[in-house]
Amino acid sequence: APEPATLVIFGVSGDLARRKLLPAIFGLFQDGLLSSAVQILGVGRQEMLAGEFQSFVEQALRESSETDEIDEASLGAFLETLAYCAGDLAGPEVYGQIAALCSEHETSNALFYLSLPPSLFITVSDGLAAQGLHRQDEGWRRLVIEKPFGRDLESARDLQARLTRHWDESQIYRIDHYLGKETVQNLLAIRFGNAIFEPLWNRNLIDHVQITASEDLGLEGRAGYYEEAGAVRDMLQNHLLQLLALTAMEPPAPGSPDALRDEKAKVLQATRRITPETVDEVAVRGQYAAGTLYGERLAAYKDENGVDPDSRTATYVAVRLEVDNWRWQGVPFFLRTGKRLPKKVTEIAVVFKRPPLSIFPNVERNVLAFRIQPDEGVSLKISSKMPGQEMDLREVVMDFRYDAFGAPLESPYSRLLLDALTGDASLFPRAEEVMESWRIVQGLIDTWEGQGRPQLYTSGTWGPDDADRLMGEGRRWRRL
Ligand code: BG6
Repeated sequence: APEPATLVIFGVSGDLARRKLLPAIFGLFQDGLLSSAVQILGVGRQEMLAGEFQSFVEQALRESSETDEIDEASLGAFLETLAYCAGDLAGPEVYGQIAALCSEHETSNALFYLSLPPSLFITVSDGLAAQGLHRQDEGWRRLVIEKPFGRDLESARDLQARLTRHWDESQIYRIDHYLGKETVQNLLAIRFGNAIFEPLWNRNLIDHVQITASEDLGLEGRAGYYEEAGAVRDMLQNHLLQLLALTAMEPPAPGSPDALRDEKAKVLQATRRITPETVDEVAVRGQYAAGTLYGERLAAYKDENGVDPDSRTATYVAVRLEVDNWRWQGVPFFLRTGKRLPKKVTEIAVVFKRPPLSIFPNVERNVLAFRIQPDEGVSLKISSKMPGQEMDLREVVMDFRYDAFGAPLESPYSRLLLDALTGDASLFPRAEEVMESWRIVQGLIDTWEGQGRPQLYTSGTWGPDDADRLMGEGRRWRRL
């Protein structure tokens, strides 16, 4: 269990806090994983009395689909632990108040969660440091920072330099919630907890890898953020490249807390950068046009509230990446993500080569697919004989489903919050990984920013037609 600490949540009335963070924190509390010695302090713009803040949190918990079944006694006890502080993050006063509230608590340990737009990261981390809240003389102090970390390589470097004026790298926890997903960790379990996969896991037997994160949702009222970010900064640079790194990395050395991050960093370093010269060949972007999904008529991205009608923001991106090391030479990694696609599904599919000589017609490639969400599980597609006199082969699927465990999957945020509170940073990308990820996509960002509108795709379809072209001869995106 974590030590006593103050957990300070900046942006507590924001979308992420309401939908994900508060339910995750409450889940930990209800499961007895947060002792009452963890004091929660919400920070927001709006003035609220203690009672109003409690009602706000209660409502957020009852409304969020992420909240576990509520035990009313636990809820009451949880609400009692909450404190709130209102203020303007640009001024010094609010940090003084936070310092005072922190010092009332029995411990000087504190975790500051910045659930804020990136433009405020420095304002807040500096504001805290001005009050000495970064000092670790009497207890630990940590910052949790949401993605995206910067908006390109240069700004990320700048952000890192400014953060580390006061904070040590070991105090900075960059959160990528995909790393907290059970099924993402299961990728490690399957790869390194079984001996049978390693001999297959290379260029000799693998034809290519497909990583898909498709979403049926559109903007969800986040125009202000998304217009700036787009699919490259919102998903590709972080979540998808992290999935690639976990799929392609070498086995980490046991017992070393940094080994996982070291191995991920090496893969990202070896991943060929997209350059202005290669971008047309290896990347495709799109923006959703009007369309129909689940029988509902949906507006085009450019007509969404708060979006510039001439917006060039990509809501879909697909890339073909190569990892330049011995294990992966010549094996393409295809990554795609988009909004307003036909359904929500995230998966990593490892597609094997065909048998070297086929004695049967119609032999397909084997596929090992990690379904990150929904229908969490792992499946292996193989060819098998159909019953009958003929030697007819058909693809069959060996399927493991997570629900066989009969236990609900924890929210990635509760796992990561607990790790941050106990000081385990292994699931938080290091600065180096983030910089490498920016390097991979920088050429694409630069090129696309100078170009016109992305290709349009109809909402409710699988993205722009050009995405198929990326795959080249004899390969196609999986139909999910
Ligand atoms: C967030 C992005 O990081 O991840 C969102 O900002 C996206 O745009 C979300 O919808 C997807 O996360 P998940 O866990 O629902 O796959």
